[in-house]
Amino acid sequence: MRQILTGGRVFYNGVLLQGNLVIENGRVAGIGAGDADGGSPAVCAGKVPGQGGSLSGDLIDCRNLSILPGFVDVHVHLREPGFSFKETIASGTAAAAAGGMTTVCSMPNLDPAPDSLPHLEAQLEAIQRDARVRVVPFGCITQGQKGTGTLADLESMAPYVAGFSDDGRGVQEDALMEQAMRLAKRLCRPIVAHCEDNRLLRPGGCIHDGRYAAAHGLVGISSESEWRQVERDLKLAAKTGCRYHVCHVSTKESVALIRQAKRAGVAVSCETAPHYLLLCEDDLQDEGRFKMNPPLRTAADRDALLEGLCDGTIDVIATDHAPHTWEEKSRGLAGSLMGVVGLETAFPVLYTGLVRGGVLSLPELVEKMSLAPRRLFGLPGGLEEGQEADLAVFDLDAEYTVDPEGFCSMGRATPFAGRRVRGESRMTMVKGRVVWQRNTQGK
Ligand code: DOR
Repeated sequence: MRQILTGGRVFYNGVLLQGNLVIENGRVAGIGAGDADGGSPAVCAGKVPGQGGSLSGDLIDCRNLSILPGFVDVHVHLREPGFSFKETIASGTAAAAAGGMTTVCSMPNLDPAPDSLPHLEAQLEAIQRDARVRVVPFGCITQGQKGTGTLADLESMAPYVAGFSDDGRGVQEDALMEQAMRLAKRLCRPIVAHCEDNRLLRPGGCIHDGRYAAAHGLVGISSESEWRQVERDLKLAAKTGCRYHVCHVSTKESVALIRQAKRAGVAVSCETAPHYLLLCEDDLQDEGRFKMNPPLRTAADRDALLEGLCDGTIDVIATDHAPHTWEEKSRGLAGSLMGVVGLETAFPVLYTGLVRGGVLSLPELVEKMSLAPRRLFGLPGGLEEGQEADLAVFDLDAEYTVDPEGFCSMGRATPFAGRRVRGESRMTMVKGRVVWQRNTQGK
């Protein structure tokens, strides 16, 4: 079977080329320039069957659209099994597909927590049954994802997981983290760490321990509670040689520590999320949609993250998509649960804020959202010749207002609600199959 995406701009070998993208049996065959039915397409790259004659196959009109390698979001909460009242594999992966994400890595704060193969199986079955995009789970680091106590059964889960994480909790004991790193290294999987030292937290901490917290009498979450554990883990990663990835980096101190460790040759990578790059405590309103952990920090932290993104310290942008019910998010900053959704807004807010805003080029954003996470976690798919065709088609000029009511996710809480953005997704393909398409007659 051959499909030809005609007339668009295709991200190929790091640049956007005008041409026809040819997909054969679900895999990228190459790019032909010119009209699909234009007789003799010149071949720019790849082997395009039908050279010298007209291309035939299923034609998909992509005029005025950009075809990007599908995004890989290495930090999402899909909530199933255990919390399907917040999100399911079906709704979360529909949201992923709508946002141009073709692979997501799911976090293990579930019930049962995936701390052994039998406990992982419930999630694997739901993925098999309901996932619209590729889902690769993380296994827990500790039993029950408690961040303390005993190691999970890393060995039995290793073949099925992208790595090991206790996301939602930091691993509190140094010796336990060291043990986890030694075992993860032997199993050739990364440790993916939510860094939070509980000894540095105060009960009821809900936003950054800064200006807004002081002015409104709210309990703050210190930057140190994050970076102290980053600092500890970087030492352990250097000592053990384990591949180490830091989740949702939010502080300038963490950026500086990771930069330094990279220079020293530690096998470390890290991610931050769109809200930390585009917002800070100055944007806070007393609404649950501004509450997540780690919290929005200061303008200086945001600027350090942008600098780290540009100089390569920050490898990946991931959403930390963390849906909760309306009720759980409707109790203001003090009372709401931590977490905001992000799958359906990540690309448009970043494209608008960073690419149109002059911070990154489009290929650089594609690197952070698609190429780097795929490479770091050894995940398949994309737009390289011979790969299974995972792609996202966007109208980069379309302008609209973020409206959570239209989300596929069951979660609605986003600090970007009401924001004017450019870059609207039109179609998403996984393995050459259309998994999502916008009804342009509709909205
Ligand atoms: O805001 C957050 N929400 N941070 C976390 O670490 C966990 C997540 C969740 O699962 O809701």
